[in-house]
Amino acid sequence: VAGNDYQAENATISQGVVDTKHAGFTGTGFVDYANVAGSYVEFTVNAATAGNYGLRFRFANGTATDRPMDVSVNGVTVSAGLSFPGTGAWTTWVERSVTAGLVAGANKVRATATTAGGGPNLDRLSA
Ligand code: GCU
Ligand code: CA
Repeated sequence: VAGNDYQAENATISQGVVDTKHAGFTGTGFVDYANVAGSYVEFTVNAATAGNYGLRFRFANGTATDRPMDVSVNGVTVSAGLSFPGTGAWTTWVERSVTAGLVAGANKVRATATTAGGGPNLDRLSA
């Protein structure tokens, strides 16, 4: 089952702010992670049935430096240091996908920056 979009600006944000200054985002904005390790965005993802889902993070990284993040589902890391490499410009948005198991119902999907650069700018999660 796929096709649900979750906007980062509507998620729970720790050490980040909603911004609109770089075009190309969906919804009403994107999250600018603070440039610090530990900053995160946590989505509540609803799965109709338990199983493996593709989690697609839409992001931009206008630097030449990777902004890796740990991805966890319900408190368990499913991808450590997932790469969010430079996209060429802050207005160039791409998707990064990881497969993870979800339980039926609500799931907490968190993307936490692991380096001092913080995370990329994050537009949305699709699952
Ligand atoms: C710039 C950019 C921000 C981005 C930041 C960063 O300030 O405008 O959108 O989040 O760089 O390096 O994280
Ligand atoms: Ca930032």
